[in-house]
Amino acid sequence: WNYHLTHFVTSAPDIRHLPSDSGIEVAFAGRSNAGKSSALNTLTNQKSLARTSKTPGRTQLINLFQVAEGYRLVDLPGYGYAEVPEEVKLKWQHALSEYLHRRECLKGLVVLMDIRHPLKDLDQQMIKWAVQSDIQVLVLLTKADKLASGARKAQLNLVREAAKGFVGDIQVEVFSSLKRIGVDKLSQKLDSWFTD
Ligand code: GTP
Ligand code: MG
Repeated sequence: WNYHLTHFVTSAPDIRHLPSDSGIEVAFAGRSNAGKSSALNTLTNQKSLARTSKTPGRTQLINLFQVAEGYRLVDLPGYGYAEVPEEVKLKWQHALSEYLHRRECLKGLVVLMDIRHPLKDLDQQMIKWAVQSDIQVLVLLTKADKLASGARKAQLNLVREAAKGFVGDIQVEVFSSLKRIGVDKLSQKLDSWFTD
């Protein structure tokens, strides 16, 4: 699969506004500011395919990108950001949970966590829920460039150990958009989800 050919399809406030529920979708989920939109841009080699920002809460809609006819990547709003007004937060959370529970073509979930702060409650909930729903999971520990290689390995081992506590076989990899680390692991996983 050539992810460089990915293009924007649509942004939707909720699942009623999404295109038909067919083909295969893989969604990028994680706490606000974890680096979801940046990872999409790195994978697709496009600077501003998905909008990124220093301010958490940048992505507020369900954003769909098409890799090829029927094969889509989805940039989801982040969770867990406290500074957003309660009303807005509830609206996104509703859109997010509805997407995750009702979208039949959702095959895999890439769960991104800042390597310095992995496996917060909401991350664990997200993984548990995906496993229960038979959705495959890849965990990416993002911003790996922020740690020296020893600390990076220590965090990776820690999260890999913890991942054994979930049912199923959850792959965990380090990732950096800045240094382009882990991009091959990500594209290989997506290839496998898109292929069978
Ligand atoms: P929301 O849309 O708010 O949920 O955030 P997001 O998860 O999409 O994060 P986004 O990609 O917008 O990145 C958040 C911030 O982290 C931006 O300032 C990015 O430049 C920075 N960032 C993302 N990936 C990396 C990385 O690999 N290394 C470093 N050092 N910074 C990164
Ligand atoms: Mg984003």
